Amino acid sequence: MSVWALLVAAGTGERLGADRPKAFVGLHGRPLLAESLERLDASRWVDAVVVAAPPGWEEPAILLAEELAVTKVAACVTGGATRADSVRAALAEVPEDAAVVLVHDAARPLLTDGVIERVLAPLAQGWDGAVPALPLADTVKRVLGDAVVETVARDELAAAQTPQAFVASVLREAYAGDLAGATDCASLVEARGGRVKIVEGDPRLLKITTTADLELVESWL
Ligand code: CTP
Ligand code: MG
Repeated sequence: MSVWALLVAAGTGERLGADRPKAFVGLHGRPLLAESLERLDASRWVDAVVVAAPPGWEEPAILLAEELAVTKVAACVTGGATRADSVRAALAEVPEDAAVVLVHDAARPLLTDGVIERVLAPLAQGWDGAVPALPLADTVKRVLGDAVVETVARDELAAAQTPQAFVASVLREAYAGDLAGATDCASLVEARGGRVKIVEGDPRLLKITTTADLELVESWL
């Protein structure tokens, strides 16, 4: 059973506001992308990796892979305008005989083998996909403008992270359709009736969005 990992790194990082795309901003003295790329490459669960790089950053991404001496990078593609477009471009490089596709945000550098193992396990039990998630600490309100419409039952909510794992054929079908509004892969699979399991996430899989996040993750390294 071969597992292909798509590492999406093609975002601009607008909210971080650096002079380069987020994946190439420094984390502990190397580009942010290095951390997740190295960790995916070292994982015993992952057979091959496809990187989606920002337009114009394909060569730096390939050079970084060479510098890190990673051995599993099969392709580096140019990402698209949205995350879903970037996933679709990377997915096109996955061979027909791949069994499982894992999709991970480069913006979440602190990937562990433990969470990879947790998202892969449900696929062997008949699930179409699996997503790591954390319970919400705050009370959540549905709002319209600045008015509260209702308080949502917190025990029915979870904050989804990556890596997300899918049966390859299921993910392909999901990405053959309309991608509008999809902020993660699982939502497209769910929309087609796919069964997606929630597994335990990891607070250290925090997605770096702002400078404060970058400093926090750096302090954890
Ligand atoms: N991503 C991507 N292609 C895009 C947009 C996002 O590959 N067109 C990737 C990012 O590189 C990141 C992940 O999807 O690893 C999650 O996106 P996000 O954290 O929103 O990153 P950015 O879009 O770069 O940040 P911002 O929204 O602040 O611009
Ligand atoms: Mg974004």
